[in-house]
Amino acid sequence: MRALAIAQPNIALIKYWGKRDTQKNLPAVGSQSITLDSLWTTMDVEFAAELAADTLQVNGSDSPAMLPRLSRCLDRVAGTDRAPARILSECNFPIAAGLASSASSFAALVVAADAALAQGNDTLTLARSAGAASGSAARSLYAGFVELRTGETDIDLEQLAAPADWPLEVIVAVTHAGAKPVSSGDAMIRSANTSPFYARWVDEQDADLNVGREAIEARDFARLAEVAEHNCLKMHSVMWTSRPSIVYWNHVTLVCMQTVRELRDKGHAVFFTIDAGPQVKAVCLPGDADAVARALADVDGVVEVMRTGLGDGARVVTAT
Ligand code: PMV
Repeated sequence: MRALAIAQPNIALIKYWGKRDTQKNLPAVGSQSITLDSLWTTMDVEFAAELAADTLQVNGSDSPAMLPRLSRCLDRVAGTDRAPARILSECNFPIAAGLASSASSFAALVVAADAALAQGNDTLTLARSAGAASGSAARSLYAGFVELRTGETDIDLEQLAAPADWPLEVIVAVTHAGAKPVSSGDAMIRSANTSPFYARWVDEQDADLNVGREAIEARDFARLAEVAEHNCLKMHSVMWTSRPSIVYWNHVTLVCMQTVRELRDKGHAVFFTIDAGPQVKAVCLPGDADAVARALADVDGVVEVMRTGLGDGARVVTAT
């Protein structure tokens, strides 16, 4: 009745922004991502009839705020008649700061719950359960390059390439480690309701996904760089033009973007992407990672630089 699972966050190259169905949390658009390696979240889930209710500790402290979402996610995997769960989570990077901690959390949670109950669900079923909690979490069930396709009734996922097929590196420049001002879920709904660019964003997504898929298949870094930066800036344009506007960036975010552009002008294979937070993720070829990490660490206001390769999907560590 107890299992420990680990999952890594993923970073979207072609972004998910907007919901087709807010009840089922179905995305309005498909997305493509890379699963990271050295950032991780573990979830230790124990179902125990003697508990009065679910409990959650994150990094050793009680953490009631996130518990209702985790409880609902456990209900989806284990059924609403399940025993209460004791959840112990560890995370080695800042939480709720635009570093996809919800993706690794829900991916690890569904895998741990499934293993604790020895249910034997397949990866797609678990990915759909994680995706119902946090759309991007579904992608963290898979290793390397991942595509999420959206349909009328549910999502589908496919691994486009394994980490070893194209071992890109990611340098994360943390520009502010605090929690984000608006959750991505609320922000997406606001964008869909108010941004004049939202419909166009949705219309153009399939074209960007096609280019992303071709670039990954061909290991064409320049093509991937161009479409990923364009797609990221389109998503943030939708956010900026929502009412009230949603701006996750700070001035250091902009300096990091410019630093990445300058590195590229000097011949380095690197591009930036940014999610619902002020952190800049620089994706590069392995031979360029040292120079990119050095340049971003030198930017005034960058509080931390993390470096990672591509990694595995969520998996069980121990089950008893
Ligand atoms: O999965 P959510 O609800 O946290 O939304 C994630 C949205 C972005 O990170 C901004 C983009 C993405 O595709 O991951």
